[in-house]
Amino acid sequence: MHFANRVERLKPYPFARQAETLAKLKGRGMDVIRMDIGSPDQPPAAHILAALEKAARDPDNHGYPAFGYGTPSLLAAVAAYYESRFQVELDPQRETTALLGSKEGIFHLTQACLNPGDVALVPDPAYPPYRIAAEWAGAEVFTLPLRRENNFLPDWNLVPPEMIRRARMLWINYPNNPTGAVAERKFYEATVAFGAQHGILVCSDAAYCDVAFDGYIPSSILEVEGAKSTAIEFTSVSKTYNMAGWRLGFLSGNAEVVAAVRNVKSNIDSGIFAPVTAAGEAALRGDQSWLVERNALYARRRDLVLEGLAAIGIVAQPPKASLYVWAPVPIGWTAEAYATEILESTGVCFSPGTFFGEGGEGYLRISLGAPMTRVEEAIRRLRHWQTNPPASPQLA
Ligand SMILES: Cc1ncc(COP(=O)(O)O)c(C=O)c1O
Repeated sequence: MHFANRVERLKPYPFARQAETLAKLKGRGMDVIRMDIGSPDQPPAAHILAALEKAARDPDNHGYPAFGYGTPSLLAAVAAYYESRFQVELDPQRETTALLGSKEGIFHLTQACLNPGDVALVPDPAYPPYRIAAEWAGAEVFTLPLRRENNFLPDWNLVPPEMIRRARMLWINYPNNPTGAVAERKFYEATVAFGAQHGILVCSDAAYCDVAFDGYIPSSILEVEGAKSTAIEFTSVSKTYNMAGWRLGFLSGNAEVVAAVRNVKSNIDSGIFAPVTAAGEAALRGDQSWLVERNALYARRRDLVLEGLAAIGIVAQPPKASLYVWAPVPIGWTAEAYATEILESTGVCFSPGTFFGEGGEGYLRISLGAPMTRVEEAIRRLRHWQTNPPASPQLA
């Protein structure tokens, strides 16, 4: 078979490789506890499920969706959500569009914006599709390192003028996957100013904006005055409403960019299943108070994880938001070697930080999306393992 060069260059997605390893271990009878993947374990609230069921029973709801970009009432619900959640006004028809999950939108937005030779400014570590999509478009990626000493925020001063001149897109993601870091209003203001000054589209991925702990409330880049001239933002029902498998996300902000993405998508996909649209609308417009208890549950898991890590000598910072603890590995280990050692010795699966780029070396990403009993069991196994720890290997 002959494949396109871009496909030949494409490496398997890290979590797809991980799934193969786990299938082998499970085949050998290992009870694997998955704390690697950021998929909420809890179901959505009852009113969301009821809306899905009701819409699925309507015989008119099973054909191709009439509105590829989201129905007018779904887009109005996104605008209403932005208004009540962030006090941001959106024109539902021009400034927001629905996606089959934000991962798809990240890919298609990138294809809409980058030519070969253009530059995308991409953080490291980061959610992998930002980089992969830019490379697929034939663009060059300039890496923005995210470091603890900088609170995992990128520093624009490190971008050489030549890269700024060629840059068309800049990715930011707070609350952050994988580091759990958050960004404040001042950072968003500086980023909007940077994007506007240099004509760079600022792409803010706010997939975790509703997963926050201890009263912390993440903000949106679109709250910044004038942001819509240079920025767009992704939101998603995946983590916000425990609907990761339903595939529904949103792109909001700059109207020209929204129109370009709609154009790309109209040539590629056929829109969102009507019952998912109905459920998404119910989620966005319905009672939001259940998210408080859901987030409190994540916070209890976070505390348990931090305690368990401390028991094996690892001190990690408590995240204020996101679904992850970003934990340093002990000296003498690579992230991959330590994650593999834990997995093979205990059956507890964490993600090595290097799944998210070279900048993730030295860290594990631990997901809070596993049931409490499984988190407790994972901690019990780690403590037991600690009484008989392996010698650290030499770094490769
Ligand atoms: C930062 C970030 N953005 C986007 C996504 C994908 O979200 P969706 O389910 O809407 O495609 C994820 C999923 O893990 C993520 O971590």
